[in-house]
Amino acid sequence: MGRVAIVTGGTRGIGAAICKRLQRQGHIVIANYAGNEEKAQAFTAETGIRAYKWDVGDHEASLDGCAQVERDFGPIDIVVNNAGITRDGTLRKVSFDDWNDVIRINLGGCFNMAKATFPGMCERGWGRIVNIGSINGQAGQYGQVNYAAAKSGIHGFTKALAQEGAKFGVTVNAIAPGYIDTDMVAAVPPAVLEKIVAKIPVGRLGMAEEIARGVAFLTSENGGFMTGSTMSINGGQHMY
Ligand code: CAA
Repeated sequence: MGRVAIVTGGTRGIGAAICKRLQRQGHIVIANYAGNEEKAQAFTAETGIRAYKWDVGDHEASLDGCAQVERDFGPIDIVVNNAGITRDGTLRKVSFDDWNDVIRINLGGCFNMAKATFPGMCERGWGRIVNIGSINGQAGQYGQVNYAAAKSGIHGFTKALAQEGAKFGVTVNAIAPGYIDTDMVAAVPPAVLEKIVAKIPVGRLGMAEEIARGVAFLTSENGGFMTGSTMSINGGQHMY
């Protein structure tokens, strides 16, 4: 059955792969994006998936954005909180703004999107929320106090909200990707990345589509008994 699904940060990288996969599952997919107009337009031209622009770290903008999507397409039944940024640096170097931006967007975005959509899902008796966490929220990562804290927070947020949604047929799960071949990972200095890849038992970076397949399962009818869990898709880099 086709449902209305929204993917934040949906026009690039992992988000774009998730959008395409959910579209192939027969859903009406909406991509949210924050900044890159050119990529968003190219994505819509390629896929036919409509892209809506707002900053998921902005509470009011998220409420307004989701309300607009619902006016245009109907109730949102599936939310994939994928939008995220990095501001890497050791604690000595990261600024208060680097800390705040990452927490506000990566973790705050999950809260804002849930505030906009979770109550409606509960009222209708069906919903799926998938939050994209990270291996670095599970294991920590040198130079990522902000990102690791936000992603770790996502895993806690997921387990708490799952308990609220369970009796209403709303599942809330997380996926913890490892290092995936995206622009974000490409920004890691090559020498550092080489050392990281050397520690991945599968011996390569993951592909965005490999995360999208996990989302497809968690958002399907078959995923109904799975809630509050974290699906690790990381090539064996961290066994949690
Ligand atoms: N453990 C211990 N020490 C480490 C280390 C580690 N993992 N990595 C670096 N160091 C040490 C270095 O050896 C160096 O020590 P010396 O000064 O004694 O030689 C010192 O720390 C400084 O290292 P850098 O030269 O790398 O420092 P920098 O300030 O130039 O850069 C950094 C720091 C920005 C954190 C850089 O190391 C970096 O980009 N690291 C990668 C961070 C990372 O993995 N980000 C993931 C982004 S992708 C993502 O987040 C997606 C996802 O979900 C997986």
